[in-house]
Amino acid sequence: MAYESAQKIVIKTPEQIEGIRKSGALAAATLAYLKPFVQPGVTTIFLDKKCKEFVLDHHALPATLYYKTFPASCCTSVNDVVCHGVPNNTTILREGDILNIDVTTIYNGYFGDTCTMFKVGNISEYASNMLKIAKTCLDEGVKQCYSGNKLSNIGKSIEKYARSQGCSVVFEFCGHGVGLSFHEEPEVSHNSETHRDAILKPGMVFTIEPMINAGKARTKIDKWDHWTARTIDGKLSAQYEHTICITESGYELLTGDMEKLVEF
Ligand code: MF3
Ligand code: CO
Ligand code: CO
Repeated sequence: MAYESAQKIVIKTPEQIEGIRKSGALAAATLAYLKPFVQPGVTTIFLDKKCKEFVLDHHALPATLYYKTFPASCCTSVNDVVCHGVPNNTTILREGDILNIDVTTIYNGYFGDTCTMFKVGNISEYASNMLKIAKTCLDEGVKQCYSGNKLSNIGKSIEKYARSQGCSVVFEFCGHGVGLSFHEEPEVSHNSETHRDAILKPGMVFTIEPMINAGKARTKIDKWDHWTARTIDGKLSAQYEHTICITESGYELLTGDMEKLVEF
């Protein structure tokens, strides 16, 4: 089904895009700031504390803090955690873990949303390969970002690549319009099951954030915090996220500095 009118997907003005670009740069800078703290022995709550300090020091707010019932300034998702890992004082990073940190900033009223994967010390070849596949999935989605293309081609190409590598794509969490608020239209599916399609147009701003699983696609939510989403089979999951703007000539990554952090 197509969006009945384009009204629901807000076309951002150049001024708004500039605001989101600044917020996106700060979100990416937060991830860069956190990188040296990602070490064996560190708790996820410590990383959250550092995240909060950095964002506040830059005159911005962490969008996840008190969003619905979320209690922290970032999401920290280790190994089999797919997304929305709640920072806590009992999750201690261990050598060989893979960690996703997802940061959304509100700067001057504008939202920038990005996440990347970190290696805790040395990781296995198997884990490293998962990171590579998940990053390539994001890149495959980004390649479909041009005016006139169908929104649904993003998820289609992500799923095609993930499957070619023997991996599955999480369908319970999607990318989203972003910028003037945290989660806007459209919903960005990461697989071929799109409910509503749209034609991409200059000024649309949304995230692509595929969660790629080594095993089954299904997830389950931890009973004790109602947030942490894990793979149903306990296998690894990895995710990278950009905030992207459709332009006249293609796209712009509004969180492009995340790229500097990518390592497998
Ligand atoms: N930043 C996440 C996203 O990419 C959303 C986290 S919502 C939270 O959409 F409540 F879990 F923090
Ligand atoms: Co997002
Ligand atoms: Co995010």
